[in-house]
Amino acid sequence: MTLSRRNFLQASISASALSAFPFAAHAIPSPYILTAGKARTQILPKKYGKTDVWAFNNQVSGPVLRVKQGDLFHARFENKLDVPSSIHWHGVRVPNNMDGVPFITQAPVAPQASFDYAFRPQDAGTFWYHPHLNSAEQVGRGLSGVLIVEEDSPIDVDQDISFVLDDWRLGEDGKIIEDFPNLHDRAHGGRFGNVTGVNGQYKPNFDVQNGERLRLRLINSANARIFSPEIPGQSVWVIAFDGQPITPLKLEKQNLRLGPGMRADLIVDVHKTDETSVIMIDRTYPGDPIQLAHFDVSGKGTPRISNPPILPANPLSVPDLANAEHRAVVYEGGAMGRMTSAKLNGASDTAMRDLVQKSGVIWASNGNTYTSLDDLNKAKRLFQLKLGKSYIFSLSNKTSFQHPIHLHGHTYQLIARNGKKLKTPMWQDTVLISPNETVEIAFVADNPGHWMFHCHILDHAAAGMA
Ligand code: C2O
Ligand code: CU
Repeated sequence: MTLSRRNFLQASISASALSAFPFAAHAIPSPYILTAGKARTQILPKKYGKTDVWAFNNQVSGPVLRVKQGDLFHARFENKLDVPSSIHWHGVRVPNNMDGVPFITQAPVAPQASFDYAFRPQDAGTFWYHPHLNSAEQVGRGLSGVLIVEEDSPIDVDQDISFVLDDWRLGEDGKIIEDFPNLHDRAHGGRFGNVTGVNGQYKPNFDVQNGERLRLRLINSANARIFSPEIPGQSVWVIAFDGQPITPLKLEKQNLRLGPGMRADLIVDVHKTDETSVIMIDRTYPGDPIQLAHFDVSGKGTPRISNPPILPANPLSVPDLANAEHRAVVYEGGAMGRMTSAKLNGASDTAMRDLVQKSGVIWASNGNTYTSLDDLNKAKRLFQLKLGKSYIFSLSNKTSFQHPIHLHGHTYQLIARNGKKLKTPMWQDTVLISPNETVEIAFVADNPGHWMFHCHILDHAAAGMA
């Protein structure tokens, strides 16, 4: 569901909020109001009853927010939860104080308190928002939503639909199984659900017309599950990845893998014959493919014959590879893994085992461990970079699991996997790294501040992988 500004409560702007922004008073539009609170929604089919969730504006996924590229975006976050929270604008190159990371860029937003977020998004594309405090639980219970930054002249499609891919761990009664600080999940692949959903619903239906051109904005908001969506029998292209335009690529079996946090924009030219049914399926994990969504196709139109257009590029700084400085990050830990260099502040193996039991810290980046509940004093700098300089990071996964590694405040180019240069570097903010794989990412450190660099399997981040 899309909400326009006028559907939102108009909120008056307090003097204190005004002074927080470097914008003239007349330039501030009425804000979106995002209220986090408890809600009940129908995730499962009707006969199973409703699910108690935490949600923005009582919706799972939260409201789809839209802003034009370069325009002022303003959202007031109201926390009606019993616990502190915050909002992070995933993939958006925001000023540091708008990044929503408690203890690092702002104080946690206490219950009943509010916080005003305002920025001008530089890049058009598909982004999303979610809390950044105890996110394994808060996002896992349903707090997230889509932020669409519109191109100046949007491409011509008949329907523009957000597809928030997620999974839920539900009991027979439809209730969330509340084993959130679960050591097993944290030490393995993260918290997987037993029910997949799109936009907070198990296997929803979408009404489309034969011949229509759809823009599907896929967002993986799951804690841990990887999605490789396919729409068999249809002409589908990927036109953007992590919000950034790419040369349209035909979607084939298994050539699009979205780790948690990652996005892709698809163009689908709907074409249904009498024999086909149009569904979105996922085949990431062995066993039966999972049906994610169904398209109810009516009408007799014929699909366009043109290839999809190329979206205009965003104003990203291209890294200077020849003069870039190199940094290396080694990821260790987890079940079936080791934490050799980590040793958690020099602790011996037995002491470390005790520490894991007590603190739940299981993963490390170059020996650093940090969780969203730690304050800035506990956060060790992974690196200190120079403003305006280009960097190449090599990221080595020395664990037995895949990790989607996300950098805040910047969009980087994926330039190599296992020493093999990519023919076309990919702009991304999250990269999925397989066990024993090393990838290289390159970027210009052009956004000053303290930035998180973490695994987006939220249960791993909660166990130190940040
Ligand atoms: Cu979407 Cu630091 O995260
Ligand atoms: Cu991870």
